[in-house]
Amino acid sequence: MQRWNRKKAHFPLLVLFFLVFIVFSTLHSEHSIQQIHENPDHVLNHQQVPTAYVKPNLSGGELKRAAEILDRFSRCNTTKEYSGRKISWVDHSNKHIQRRVSSESCDVFSGKWVFDNSSYPLYNESDCPYMSDQLACHKHGRSDLGYRYWRWQPHNCNLKRWNATEMWEKLRNKRLMFVGDSLNRGQWISMICLLQSVIPEHKRSITPNAPLTIFRAEEYNATVEFLWAPLLVESNSDDPVNHRLDERIMRPDSVLNHALKWEHADILIFNTYLWWRQGPVKLLWTDEENGACEELDGLGAMELAMGAWADWVSSKFDPLKKRVFFVTMSPTHLWSREWNPGSEGNCYGEKSPIDLQSYWGSGSDLGTMRMVDKILSRLSSKVTVLNITQLSEYRKDGHPSIFRKFWETLRPEQLSNPASYSDCIHWCLPGVSDVWNELLFHLL
Ligand SMILES: *[C@@H]1O[C@H](CO)[C@@H](O)[C@H](O)[C@H]1NC(C)=O
Ligand SMILES: *[C@@H]1O[C@H](CO)[C@@H](O)[C@H](O)[C@H]1NC(C)=O
Ligand SMILES: *[C@@H]1O[C@H](CO)[C@@H](O)[C@H](O)[C@H]1NC(C)=O
Ligand SMILES: *[C@@H]1O[C@H](CO)[C@@H](O)[C@H](O)[C@H]1NC(C)=O
Ligand SMILES: *[C@@H]1O[C@H](CO)[C@@H](O)[C@H](O)[C@H]1NC(C)=O
Ligand SMILES: *[C@@H]1O[C@H](CO)[C@@H](O)[C@H](O)[C@H]1NC(C)=O
Ligand SMILES: *[C@@H]1O[C@H](CO)[C@@H](O)[C@H](O)[C@H]1NC(C)=O
Repeated sequence: MQRWNRKKAHFPLLVLFFLVFIVFSTLHSEHSIQQIHENPDHVLNHQQVPTAYVKPNLSGGELKRAAEILDRFSRCNTTKEYSGRKISWVDHSNKHIQRRVSSESCDVFSGKWVFDNSSYPLYNESDCPYMSDQLACHKHGRSDLGYRYWRWQPHNCNLKRWNATEMWEKLRNKRLMFVGDSLNRGQWISMICLLQSVIPEHKRSITPNAPLTIFRAEEYNATVEFLWAPLLVESNSDDPVNHRLDERIMRPDSVLNHALKWEHADILIFNTYLWWRQGPVKLLWTDEENGACEELDGLGAMELAMGAWADWVSSKFDPLKKRVFFVTMSPTHLWSREWNPGSEGNCYGEKSPIDLQSYWGSGSDLGTMRMVDKILSRLSSKVTVLNITQLSEYRKDGHPSIFRKFWETLRPEQLSNPASYSDCIHWCLPGVSDVWNELLFHLL
């Protein structure tokens, strides 16, 4: 089942192998599971369908329906083909008001990894009380520790040196909120690990009331929060622990319930990607009264969700008062033949970064990148891109592989073949996600 084959099928759009990747876990709960498995090839079949444009402003009955939470018990009454409806949104930003543009024109995302064991890691794994067992690789037996010592060096400039006190000053009286999936949660954990050391223990606290988890620092009157919303729009996966795996149902036109939580944040960091790579998704439009769903492939559905999100950003959010960041797709390293032709493994056993300039693996879907580029460029006066894809592509050594807590009991045949259950999706801490946060610090 580990074959990556480009099928020579005659369909107009891509025929890809879908990675089924489902992670549900909570920070402070023992009850978490990770599953990584794959689906048979799924054929995306785009019929010619008439296009109708839907504006995601809701009223009356629609508003009431949008406020109903989808959960693991939600069902589609019926499922039909995608009707071709799209989300329409306009960029309301005043083009004359430019967001503070950083004075330098350097592309901080273009660069290379430099081994630097004098300034890295920025914190020690065991010194961070908020560390997750999914990401604490040393604690879970990883003995090669090189992954902690790499600094990102942009080609044409230097990154600002990380300074936790300075970051707290930027956050004074503010709420910083990460919104997205488990990769974004990893970045949030990295951020609180980076920040917590300068706050005395009795002046900081964490409230693990998932789906919104809040880290507070009293003396700065500031919070660093994480909201679980893997699809950005509302879906039956919005409970971080109890969501259905077999049928993904989403409201392509509503971020209502999530926005009620995120609208009060001053700095927002969004991501979404891997959850769209699991095959078709059921769409439950808000004006649909009889529970009739439509079915659409992941990329198409992600485009709808990004549209509903973009509509919120462009109509509800003031770039002079707040900041929004979008984190691009986090790469996976599931097939070692992509960087080492002829080999059969994955990220398991990898100890150093890839040094081939511009290396790009098949896990980072170019069609998705183009779609995201298009939406973000229309929002460019409001959203800052954290384009972490290329730099993280190099870091095949940065994943936990087998060195994390697994929530399921591993079977003997798995244990005898470590690659078979390796996590090549998330990132060990301290590690790659710390650098994403340094980039955020640099751009803030
Ligand atoms: C959406 O907003 C537009 C203009 O603000 C309005 O004309 C339209 O009736 C609204 N639609 C709904 C469904 O509320
Ligand atoms: C840093 O790495 C160099 C070369 O691998 C090694 O000689 C040195 O002892 C390391 N220093 C620390 C502080 O780990
Ligand atoms: C991590 O621990 C080592 C050994 O205890 C220590 O030398 C180093 O300063 C610590 N690093 C940080 C960032 O606290
Ligand atoms: C970190 O930032 C604080 C506040 O801006 C400053 O006082 C301090 O000197 C900085 N530390 C370093 C090591 O640059
Ligand atoms: C604390 O921060 C909030 C915004 O997050 C602000 O409304 C409030 O006035 C601040 N409190 C103080 C005492 O500064
Ligand atoms: C399913 O369809 C039936 C008949 O159209 C309707 O009465 C029922 O309310 C629908 N269920 C949901 C969950 O919308
Ligand atoms: C991110 O960087 C890649 C190159 O690494 C580029 O192709 C892509 O357009 C960029 N995306 C965004 C949203 O800036």
